[in-house]
Amino acid sequence: MKITQAIFSGSCRFIKDRPKRRLPEFAFIGRSNVGKSSLINALCRQGQLAHTSSKPGKTQLVNHFLINNSWYLVDLPGYGYAKLSKGIKAELGEIIRGYINGSEELVNLFVLLDSRHDVQSIDLKFLLELGEAGVPFSIIFTKCDKLGSSALENQIKKNRETLMEYWEELPPVFLSSTESGKGREEILDYIETLLK
Ligand code: GTP
Ligand code: MG
Repeated sequence: MKITQAIFSGSCRFIKDRPKRRLPEFAFIGRSNVGKSSLINALCRQGQLAHTSSKPGKTQLVNHFLINNSWYLVDLPGYGYAKLSKGIKAELGEIIRGYINGSEELVNLFVLLDSRHDVQSIDLKFLLELGEAGVPFSIIFTKCDKLGSSALENQIKKNRETLMEYWEELPPVFLSSTESGKGREEILDYIETLLK
């Protein structure tokens, strides 16, 4: 799959306010700072398309990007950032769930996990909720450039094992790095397959 055009098409808090054109949507979720917005930029090869930050809590709305005039990439706020006030955390949770449960166009939710760390309980809780709600998802381990190859391999193996305690079969799992471009082609090919 080649991305020839990527256009920001709007930010919204409520799903009723998303761009009016109904097209297939592929969304990105995960803990704050895991690299959702950066990955969207890397997929589109446009560094400034989605706003990123070294500090967690950057994306606070649902952002739609129209790709090749035929489908959307959707950047979501992150969950699990402890330093936000209770009120803001609750609000972000509502925005995330409002979108995930409300979009009939959501083809696949990419759940991003940081490849350097063990799967956190907040991630498991989120993944289990998705399973119960029947939301189709796949997993992307991000920031794979930050570990050496054997440390990365061990951590991914451990994380896969953790996930296998909850699911007999794992959904598709991708490894990504916005630094090296790792995973880009595989993720885009997967989207292409789902669009067919
Ligand atoms: P929120 O919007 O706050 O939920 O965060 P986010 O998940 O959108 O993360 P964002 O894309 O803003 O990236 C957070 C930080 O991680 C930034 O400093 C990025 O440069 C960095 N980052 C993201 N992906 C990678 C990666 O693959 N490798 C490396 N080395 N850094 C990355
Ligand atoms: Mg973001």
